[in-house]
Amino acid sequence: MNIDYGQLIPNNVDLASDRTLQRALERWQPEFLGWWKDTGPVKSNDLQVYLRTAVSVDRDGWANFGYVKMPDYRWGIFLNPNDPERKIHFGDHKGEPAWQEVPGEYRSTLRRIIVTQGDTEPASVEQQRLLGKTAPSLYDMRNLFQVNVEEGRHLWAMVYLLQRYFGRDGREEAEYLLQRRSGDTNNPRILGAFNEQTRHWIAFFMFAFFTDRDGKFQLSSLAESGFDPLARTCRFMLTEEAHHMFVGESGVARAIQRTCELMAEHKISDPRDARKLGVVDLPTLQKFVNFHFSVTLDLFGSEISSNAATYYTTGLKGRYEEAKKADDHELKNDTYPVPQIENGQIVVKDVPALTALNCRLRDDYIKEIQGGLDRWNRIPEKLGIPFRFKLPHVGFHRAIGSFAGHHVSPDGEVMTESEWNSHRAEWMPNEEDHAYIDSLMGQVIEPGKFANWIAPPARGINSQPIDFEYVRFN
Ligand SMILES: [Fe+2]
Ligand SMILES: [Fe+2]
Repeated sequence: MNIDYGQLIPNNVDLASDRTLQRALERWQPEFLGWWKDTGPVKSNDLQVYLRTAVSVDRDGWANFGYVKMPDYRWGIFLNPNDPERKIHFGDHKGEPAWQEVPGEYRSTLRRIIVTQGDTEPASVEQQRLLGKTAPSLYDMRNLFQVNVEEGRHLWAMVYLLQRYFGRDGREEAEYLLQRRSGDTNNPRILGAFNEQTRHWIAFFMFAFFTDRDGKFQLSSLAESGFDPLARTCRFMLTEEAHHMFVGESGVARAIQRTCELMAEHKISDPRDARKLGVVDLPTLQKFVNFHFSVTLDLFGSEISSNAATYYTTGLKGRYEEAKKADDHELKNDTYPVPQIENGQIVVKDVPALTALNCRLRDDYIKEIQGGLDRWNRIPEKLGIPFRFKLPHVGFHRAIGSFAGHHVSPDGEVMTESEWNSHRAEWMPNEEDHAYIDSLMGQVIEPGKFANWIAPPARGINSQPIDFEYVRFN
């Protein structure tokens, strides 16, 4: 098979002159397409979707819009431009030139970091594969597919690193990335949240708001890495990630908007009664906030972690916005406050800052998430509805870290397992909630029309009108 690399795989890594990498990609590309056809969006292969495709990393090149059949999408390989002067700016190697090749002593750790990041990308495509069938509008269907093809491109980005820098075992890992499946009992995806089902559009929007934002924070700290190709790859991925979080935040906001509008119009005071109007009531949305927030916090790992300390001191993974933090970027003498449970009480303890880096990244994440909730809360406020969304306590419903095995209420009260379980259905989406939301979902394909449960967006994509034909069916 002959591939015109400049054309079919847009790239800025000079693929045409790298024979080994070409051969590896030649083998991998058909397998990727096989994976896409198997586990990508169902019944989507013939749809013409108004997609954004990156063809270069400059301002004009990264956002080219046009109709594309998704299997023909040009999944490219893009790294932010090289800065030959770049230095490692934290940890034990601070001040040394950034690595252009993998340092031997960190090889297996780096490979693990890249594989773990890479594994989340195809996982979310698998989780979302059925959603096109219940898209509430063409605009939303297009956004879903945009997220899906870009997660596919993020997989390419990680596979590029594995194949280019890790030789044979990198190539093997690239194959395994196409073999694991979200939710599979024998061969699941690596991280828990990526094996959860994305059952309907509320789950999808919440996932894109909460979990894609975890992606942003992980990518941001890898964008600081001393391993320069990883840093540059992640920088470019972040430009695409912003759209995924927009889809999530605005999607939830539009559901809130619609519910509040109808509540105001019908003078409904008990938010639970909103279901009579065929919309998602605000207390149910709060349950989804509780669920998605808590499972996403688990993705940050244990609050206290010697691995996190090692990643930092060895220069592999920095902090969020490392360069903007005003300290010595070594953290050997610093401490950081970490909440934990002691004798049935939540206490905050100062621990060595290096071991608390997961907790710190999580705290940075929570700040941004809180900003999103504040924006959501302006909607009921404007419409005179007294309901407000609230993040649950960090210890609520946790499976990883110092709260795992404990039972903490959304308000931060430590309780017994049976007490906690007796409240579970108030705090987390239960089967009845899911079934109710399922009952609202149905595909709307008339341009400019939206399902009853969601408000139209404020504006269209790429300055197109809201009633633009974002997906064509022939
Ligand atoms: Fe991604
Ligand atoms: Fe994403």
